[in-house]
Amino acid sequence: MKSDQAVHYNIYYQQLNYFGYRIWLYDRYLAGLIGACQLKPGATVLDVGCGQGLFSYLFRKHGMAVQGIDISDVGILAAQRAYGDSGISFSVADIEDDMLSAQLGQFDCVFARGLSLYNRVDFPDNDEVTRKLLGFVKPGGFLMFLYYSNCSSKRSGSWRYHSWTELQHHFRHYPSARFYFSFKVDAYVFGQLAFSEPCTRINRLVSKWSRQGGDLICLVKKSFS
Ligand SMILES: C[S@@+](CC[C@H](N)C(=O)[O-])C[C@H]1O[C@@H](n2cnc3c(N)ncnc32)[C@H](O)[C@@H]1O
Repeated sequence: MKSDQAVHYNIYYQQLNYFGYRIWLYDRYLAGLIGACQLKPGATVLDVGCGQGLFSYLFRKHGMAVQGIDISDVGILAAQRAYGDSGISFSVADIEDDMLSAQLGQFDCVFARGLSLYNRVDFPDNDEVTRKLLGFVKPGGFLMFLYYSNCSSKRSGSWRYHSWTELQHHFRHYPSARFYFSFKVDAYVFGQLAFSEPCTRINRLVSKWSRQGGDLICLVKKSFS
């Protein structure tokens, strides 16, 4: 039986480019993140909750071997239609399925942007999903966590805007974690420099006063021990 999430996203993804992404903007954004993690062409990437597949495609464009998974079959079909020819492997799968790690193995990078499993009130104290995702990361590889939020007290009905403090609290057990907040356009202008402490500080201030949303980001390098 399909989960509520899959049913919802199946409706959304009937619309082409449901989130209205602009490739020129996101390409530079992703390039900055790839640089921040020093991922090289040929690296393996698991895009968890890949939706209609744009980020999988952008990783592929940067020379990576990409596997995109999502619980929405409509999303996966759209991804296959749009980007299937570029050598990306897309499949319908639930990251919470215990059999999945045996099937997929481990990756140099696990990319989770806006993964709905993080849209929960107990996010600050519950790192169950993060631990699961890190199980798919090779030692020395990266978990890229990205989540749309804002730094003001503005609220959204169906989407929980996690705060900067909550982000840090969630990842407190991971000493390698680096934290950023990006509007994406900053990465378009400044490239990798956007993923720096000063840029993040400015973006957070702007978000607080303008109520403009952006991505909360945490990059975690998995230790070898
Ligand atoms: C807000 S969308 C983000 C899509 C894409 N990552 C992006 O940034 O545009 C959340 C996605 O997570 C997917 N998702 C939710 N639960 C999942 C699960 N257990 N396993 C895999 N994907 C899941 C949804 O189907 C949906 O496509």
